[in-house]
Amino acid sequence: MTASLFDEVPPMPGRREELCEGAVILRGYALADEALILAAVRDIAANAPFRHLITPGGFRMSVAMTNCGTLGWVSDRSGYRYDAIDPDSGRPWPPMPGVFRQLAQKAATEARFPGFEPDVCLVNRYEPGARLTLHQDRNERGVAAPIVSVSLGLPAVFLFGGLRRSDKTQRMQLTHGDVAVWGGPARMRYHGIAPLKAGYHPSTGANRLNLTFRRAA
Ligand code: SIN
Ligand code: FE2
Repeated sequence: MTASLFDEVPPMPGRREELCEGAVILRGYALADEALILAAVRDIAANAPFRHLITPGGFRMSVAMTNCGTLGWVSDRSGYRYDAIDPDSGRPWPPMPGVFRQLAQKAATEARFPGFEPDVCLVNRYEPGARLTLHQDRNERGVAAPIVSVSLGLPAVFLFGGLRRSDKTQRMQLTHGDVAVWGGPARMRYHGIAPLKAGYHPSTGANRLNLTFRRAA
């Protein structure tokens, strides 16, 4: 797809875009908390630095990751898992800041998933070219709970597929402050992020940040 209206017209904050039953993008929903979120990400990264995990197949992930919460998502040669301990430091992950939990709960409720109690926030940092191939979030015991995903900084193309990997994908632009929520009948849909286009954002510089809230235990 070439640069087009798709890249040039930012979605209107406050807009609610349903992707399918159980999945919605809340445009600009995190904007009011931007400063607190960015400060919290800096604190988290000071204690549990971003790292490029190795997949079970032996590849280095292009997205740099860290976590906060009682559990964190990790990957290594032995597989994907949730772990209460950061394997790099041997210490628990930093606690989930109140502003994170409240934002995730509010967004889930707005998307008609009240009572969301996330125990994991995976923090993803994308540099130009970084991508996340189509996958399902399925290491969580709590699949009754939705996924709440907050985007900050450079825009990205969100690939939102079906329940089978081969299903057709929708391509949606996720921009600074957008919150995507998928749960219920959409909880196991395949999704991913297309390679990030280079650019500059006043809040995050040359990167995109994503916070993904889950109920893992
Ligand atoms: C994820 O699927 O874990 C992250 C999606 C995103 O970066 O928006
Ligand atoms: Fe995911």
